[in-house]
Amino acid sequence: MRSARVDREANKHLFGGASLEASLSQKDEALKETIATQTYEAHGGPLVDLLANGAECDGIRERAASLPVLRLSPRSLSDLELLAIGGYSPLNGFMTEADYRSVVSEMHLISGIPWPIPITLAVSATEAEAIAEGSDIALADVSGRVLAVMRVEQKFAYDRRLEAREIYRTEDEAHPGVAAVYTQGDVLLGGPVRVFELPTHEDFHQYRLTPAQTRTVFAQRGWRTVVGFQTRNPVHRAHEYIQKCALEIVDGLLLHPLVGETKSDDIPAEVRMRCYEVLLENYYPQDRVLLSVNPAAMRYAGPREAVFHALVRKNYGCTHFIVGRDHAGVGSYYGTFDAQRIFEEFAPGELGITPLMFDHTFFCRRCDEMASVKTCPHDGEARVTLSGTQVREMLKGGVAPPIEFSRPEVARVLIEAMQERVTPHHAI
Ligand code: ADX
Ligand code: MG
Repeated sequence: MRSARVDREANKHLFGGASLEASLSQKDEALKETIATQTYEAHGGPLVDLLANGAECDGIRERAASLPVLRLSPRSLSDLELLAIGGYSPLNGFMTEADYRSVVSEMHLISGIPWPIPITLAVSATEAEAIAEGSDIALADVSGRVLAVMRVEQKFAYDRRLEAREIYRTEDEAHPGVAAVYTQGDVLLGGPVRVFELPTHEDFHQYRLTPAQTRTVFAQRGWRTVVGFQTRNPVHRAHEYIQKCALEIVDGLLLHPLVGETKSDDIPAEVRMRCYEVLLENYYPQDRVLLSVNPAAMRYAGPREAVFHALVRKNYGCTHFIVGRDHAGVGSYYGTFDAQRIFEEFAPGELGITPLMFDHTFFCRRCDEMASVKTCPHDGEARVTLSGTQVREMLKGGVAPPIEFSRPEVARVLIEAMQERVTPHHAI
């Protein structure tokens, strides 16, 4: 395992080997300032940084050693990481009751700032009993390694079904996001956190850039406008098409696959990242794209999560964000374009990031190019569309989907991964 501080070393290549400050100082000062201060607005104020350093860091670490320790679930741990690095700006901790209620019913924090998804810390009633309001607790990862101190301002009960209905638009426990709410603890702890160490990760070190780091890369490359792309699935031609359509009108593209917790039948992040690597190598201009990862857990909240995904990418420095068909959807809980319509519920400019909406896209054999329902006049037969299940079946059988659907290099990675699963190479 390597710490996040080491990860920053691993990212050095992005800055051309030279120190960041040195290479930045070579750039035109005025341009740099315009880009850094005006272009990459964080949500609701300055970019939040909850990571203590220097003397403060040692002090908190010491104090944490004498506090009761709460072990976080993988989901809460990824929330802690995003809070710490400012991915959830302006939040500075887990939500207290007023913010939680306001987010659930109004999609805004009590300060009036838009926020669509609860960021809460659930514990069992027994755990809650041992924690007094106003006291501090230490937050640890699943192995018990202590990372942060939290001031528990409030403990409060909540209505799971109301949260399910408002956030997920269903009370069905078969929905993976709803199931997570139903099975978590009965009490929510709210209050600010101070982090002295980021969660450790075993994978994707060179791709784990913080919002401050992605902003620096954008500024260094002179990108004034950057479009963010969220994904939890293996990349196919429709993804590539909408990314490149978007890139036609902005300076840069942040490919930002989500690598936190996903449901068990989603393709593992490690395979998805290999797909992106071969795709980038073969089909993307290196100087216009940054591949990095989003450590967040997937909620599958469709429309609400689309807004959430956009705001998090705004904090990473994006000015635009792609929302295609059934964004962050699962099963048939959401209408195909509900995740686009929800953006109309906010006043113009309120979100501070521009959604770029795409209709259903595919390769059309009559057009002989990638197209969408909006741009292609031909009927369904000319259009190469495959369901996720169809693709999985093909890959399992060692068959590559048509090149109109998937780049052959990507298909190869996926077929290999499927076969490794059938005969794991580490099996004895
Ligand atoms: S998810 O986070 O939205 O669940 P997924 O990988 O399925 O990730 O999709 C990534 C993005 O591409 C989303 O914005 C989604 O709406 C969009 N998208 C995926 N497939 C298509 C398609 N065929 N046409 C248009 N948009 C698409
Ligand atoms: Mg999808």
